[in-house]
Amino acid sequence: MHVVRTVQAMRQERAHLTGQIGFVPTMGYLHAGHLSLFQQARAMNHTLIVSIFVNPTQFSPHEDFNAYPRDIERDLHLLEQLQVDTVFLPTAEEMYPSGFTTYVVPEGTLATEVEGAIRPNHFRGVATVVLKLFQIVQPHYVYFGQKDAQQVAVIRRMIDDLNLPFTLCVLPTMRETDGLAMSSRNSYLTPPQRLAARVLYQALQTGQQAVLAYPDGSPTLAEQAIRETIQQEPQASLEYVEIRDPYTFLPLSTLRAPALLALAVRIGTTRLIDNFLLRADGFWDTGTISSL
Ligand code: PAJ
Repeated sequence: MHVVRTVQAMRQERAHLTGQIGFVPTMGYLHAGHLSLFQQARAMNHTLIVSIFVNPTQFSPHEDFNAYPRDIERDLHLLEQLQVDTVFLPTAEEMYPSGFTTYVVPEGTLATEVEGAIRPNHFRGVATVVLKLFQIVQPHYVYFGQKDAQQVAVIRRMIDDLNLPFTLCVLPTMRETDGLAMSSRNSYLTPPQRLAARVLYQALQTGQQAVLAYPDGSPTLAEQAIRETIQQEPQASLEYVEIRDPYTFLPLSTLRAPALLALAVRIGTTRLIDNFLLRADGFWDTGTISSL
């Protein structure tokens, strides 16, 4: 496995590659959610490239950029075991040298509502770093998790809008045995908070039941069911619950597929997001309980 730290070295490495190249961008502190992306990408491609970069431009000043968990040694060991070919591990100076000026700014509902309303500039940072990584790596297939549903929608749109020449693969949310979506940020939770965090999955299940009970009904009923479940957990405070079109993030007037049930909840100071997806074909994507 090659560990490459500069853009120039990554470009040189890329120039020698032939065959299908799969690429998985990450911020590290890897868990089974990331691993599911690597495994799929490994199976589909001749070469697998993974990046680890905690991207400063997608964090607001008051957010957890400095505290974000990092363990490069452990990550590299895991990636080696998964037969990753190349790990791109740039510094912030390498990605954003002094004088850096040009950003990709997604606009409209998709980037400014739901997560975008609470995290201004977040999707600007994501789109900018992801486009830079795509340009450097020049993959054929790129892999993202449904866990970050709005990130997926923004990137899908960017790939279409900017005519980027590769295929986006979106994989289901991997969950702990009690349903909690895997996230590097789960490491912030104390043991009692970790127990309380089960309420996100439980709330999405009550929302799903409401959707099933009132097909073509108003999204308000399902949103209310989710809100009430979260309220039953004293350690949890709901930031938002939204039922939206999963591609445009426009609000839905009736509960009809495709629909995304998305929520953000604070447990203490930790912010967690999760979602269930009612796909256009009528099947639910509620994620996969990890067997790792
Ligand atoms: P990070 O949070 O490290 O996630 C990297 C990829 O793993 C993303 O596509 C994310 O959706 C996916 N992922 C995270 N948790 C998952 C889970 N439980 N199940 C399935 N997939 C999961 O997302 C980012 O990094 C950054 O925003 C990035 C795209 C790298 C840009 O900086």
